[in-house]
Amino acid sequence: MQGRFNDERETYFNGTSGVKRKECGSSPLPYTPAVEPTVTWRDGRVVLIDQRKLPLHEEYLTLGDHRAVAAAIRDMAVRGAPAIGVTAAYGLALAVHESRAEGAALVAEFEAAAELLASTRPTAINLFWAIERMRARFRAGASTDRAAQAAALLAEAKAIDAEDVAACRAMGDLGAALLPPGARVLTHCNAGALATAGYGTALGVIRSAHRDGRVSRVFVDETRPFLQGARLTAWELHHEGIPATLITDNMAGHLMARGEIDAVVVGSDRIARNGDVANKIGTYSVAVLAKEHGLPFYVAAPVSTFDLACPSGEEIPIEERAAEEVTHHGGRRLAPEGIAVRNPAFDVTPARYVSAIVCERGVARAPYESSLAALAGA
Ligand code: MRU
Repeated sequence: MQGRFNDERETYFNGTSGVKRKECGSSPLPYTPAVEPTVTWRDGRVVLIDQRKLPLHEEYLTLGDHRAVAAAIRDMAVRGAPAIGVTAAYGLALAVHESRAEGAALVAEFEAAAELLASTRPTAINLFWAIERMRARFRAGASTDRAAQAAALLAEAKAIDAEDVAACRAMGDLGAALLPPGARVLTHCNAGALATAGYGTALGVIRSAHRDGRVSRVFVDETRPFLQGARLTAWELHHEGIPATLITDNMAGHLMARGEIDAVVVGSDRIARNGDVANKIGTYSVAVLAKEHGLPFYVAAPVSTFDLACPSGEEIPIEERAAEEVTHHGGRRLAPEGIAVRNPAFDVTPARYVSAIVCERGVARAPYESSLAALAGA
């Protein structure tokens, strides 16, 4: 399985100049990714596409210092819950690669790097999950020298990376089966290839469903204030020729009321034990609208997004970001100087609005406390 996957990955992401076609799932229809891997390891460096520049410029950051990796996560050059987990894993591999310390000094450096990476963004549990996994691998190799530790950590980061793509593909196929043929689907934010190691969670479901004739059109919320929908989701879908219509966030209710949307599919940054779902700000409003209009509201996320230690959405930390994301656009001020601003980056959709949660192992439905635990333990 691992070997087959590695071979796939070679072909899957072979650059944008002359992008190679990739067979996806069971269908002969090709999935042609818009970009090289969201994040990858190349010649002792972490390479990632700078998502702040998309869709106008396709630029890659080559980072040789774990502090720069942390800054890239904090400043959202890379974003999306699984993608930041994978990036942090590579960042920790890099921290040991770049170090000259041995023994206790290496342990201290590794811990400092882990803490720095963990301090970048608070809501996506995938970040902490990936760091914990790297910590466990580091501890397991404590008796070996730095070169062996560096090799082991890189292998672990690559495994996290590969497993994430495999999880997205599996949940894509499972989630696609939930949609009726020809569905018109609304999505919010970007839960696509760019938000993961590849293929996407919500966009993975949409990709597989489109391949199977189950999606005829995707309505893309622009997703204020950072515009992940307008910039990233629209770009991914447009590149692949999946019919997509961009709307501003406040148009969703109108389209639902007119019968132009059949289902909603979104990703998640953290799912609490009771099925409450944290996702990009605005998701909650979409879920309430979906319920009002009798539309299914599906969440797609890997098991690494489950936080079963967190009883409910109330305990999920919600990141507040800089006021400039709201007051400015493209570096230009839109709002009056001195105006008070709130900028919560995520909201919580209570489980009662969630029709189903799709992960790589299956589909959970209410009551979520038992269905999520069963999938997590599977
Ligand atoms: O602030 P962002 O862009 O990192 O937020 C991303 C989201 O909210 C995504 O929907 C979520 O991480 C799922 S990504 C597969």
